[in-house]
Amino acid sequence: MKSPVLLITAGPTREPIDDVRFLSNGASGTLGIEVASAAQAKGWEVHLALGPVHLIPPEGVIHHPFTTACELEQIAVELWPRVDAMVASAAVCDYRPAERIAGKRKKSGEDWNLTLIRNPDVLAGRGAQKEDEWGQRVLVGFALEADQSEEEARRKAVNKRLDLVLCNTPDNLGTAMGDYVWIEPGEPAVKLLDVAKRDLAVKIVEFIGTRVASRRCDRAFNGE
Ligand code: CTP
Repeated sequence: MKSPVLLITAGPTREPIDDVRFLSNGASGTLGIEVASAAQAKGWEVHLALGPVHLIPPEGVIHHPFTTACELEQIAVELWPRVDAMVASAAVCDYRPAERIAGKRKKSGEDWNLTLIRNPDVLAGRGAQKEDEWGQRVLVGFALEADQSEEEARRKAVNKRLDLVLCNTPDNLGTAMGDYVWIEPGEPAVKLLDVAKRDLAVKIVEFIGTRVASRRCDRAFNGE
């Protein structure tokens, strides 16, 4: 059977205010890179859309660098027809400045109110296109909740049509280990405390491998 094709989004987005300043967050891309390594070790075709971080993509992985959420959206839309599964670990800024000021904005005596406009939700957009003539994709997302609310994570899983959601907190940003809640819609939640991101990545890749294989079997059985 053909190896799965996996798209991973990882790292932060940067939304420019002017040529010097930007809005962003502290995501490091660590978990996404671990998922890319684990999938690559299994011989899968791995596309890693990686935001501006210091980490280097693993060898053999196809690297798609991005800076802004709109650039990430474009990468995901272009790759979509060829992927079997997507892991959305990027910390995408939900808003961007309404305009990018050319050069460096000078300060004045007045306060400065920035107007922010909505960015695309990359994962929700793909959830809306989950099935098409190329089959049904496996979607894995994260729910970054300050209070690790299981209810909110389940709501995101339904809205974005996820097969698996991992609930985590801002404490996990940039670390090698973390606390997660593993939630497959319709199943009880499983707490993973102080788990190494490398081990979590292996579990995620195993989950995707099983789901992709069973969907391919269903399609073969239905004569598609
Ligand atoms: N995500 C995305 N594009 C966005 C926002 C989020 O692809 N513009 C993805 C993230 O990669 C993550 C999931 O959606 O897998 C949930 O992200 P999260 O920040 O927890 O939630 P939001 O949907 O942005 O909602 P809120 O910020 O209101 O909690």
